[in-house]
Amino acid sequence: MYQTLLTDLTDQILTVTINRPDKLNALNRQVMDELKSVVEEIYRNPGVHSAIFTGSGNKAFAAGADITEFLNLNQEQATALSHKGQEIFFGIENAPKPVIAAVNGFALGGGCELALACHLRTCSTTARFGQPEVNLGLVPGYGATQRLPLLVGRGKAMEWMMTGNLISAEEALRHGLVNLTAPPEELLSKTRGILLSIQSKAPLAIKALIRCVNQAGMGGMRGFELEQTEFGACAATQDMQEGTNAFLEKRKPLFRGV
Ligand code: COA
Repeated sequence: MYQTLLTDLTDQILTVTINRPDKLNALNRQVMDELKSVVEEIYRNPGVHSAIFTGSGNKAFAAGADITEFLNLNQEQATALSHKGQEIFFGIENAPKPVIAAVNGFALGGGCELALACHLRTCSTTARFGQPEVNLGLVPGYGATQRLPLLVGRGKAMEWMMTGNLISAEEALRHGLVNLTAPPEELLSKTRGILLSIQSKAPLAIKALIRCVNQAGMGGMRGFELEQTEFGACAATQDMQEGTNAFLEKRKPLFRGV
């Protein structure tokens, strides 16, 4: 049914695996469209009581939005791309059933933002997180500027997004970005264990809890709208062309501030 996602429903837990391992599970348009459909399935299917998002292979959860799709993106298209990604991730954040990101490798850019939109995050000891958009002349566009400060605090969020540094599993745990770390081979079973425990609680209370916690500390929609605008404006710069070309040509970018 899906071309880029694998799904498995066992014990009422829907496990969704992003399946483009040769491209480090980068989130291209098709993946995003299929994520939208699978989120709808989580809402709609009474046989699904909770969900896990993970990545295929042992290298990546998702290494970000697909950079090849950034080439020749104009400001309007980039703003729309950010809007669409934010909408899909709001769908995850507001899902009435618990959703966990089981981060099995690189969770960069949009991949990290997918994890941030989930209710909880677990990761393998080999996982690496990061918001490296500044290396491409961009800001994050799928919600990290709003969600990361809430999770890890403003200072760490600012540092990680300004430097684009890769964050180890240990550091992610220390700063509250993830709820637990596990050896790679135990990641899914530990994550399923958390969900089985939550599934034994009153479902309506869990649903209400998600609604309440999602209100805590949120500054409303303005921050998300600003993120879309700034993502679009950055996409219209020469530096963004330079950053994306440099990544695809496997060289260092030379930014000029234009
Ligand atoms: N978009 C498109 N393709 C991507 C990608 C992305 N976000 N991330 C990785 N890929 C592709 C690479 O181009 C490469 O394709 P190729 O084999 O056709 O050349 C393949 O996935 C493997 O990646 P590679 O870079 O060779 O692996 P690595 O182990 O040397 O480096 C990373 C791993 C994650 C450090 C590196 O891939 C990376 O920096 N990715 C981009 C991260 C990023 O900036 N994400 C934010 C996007 S907004």
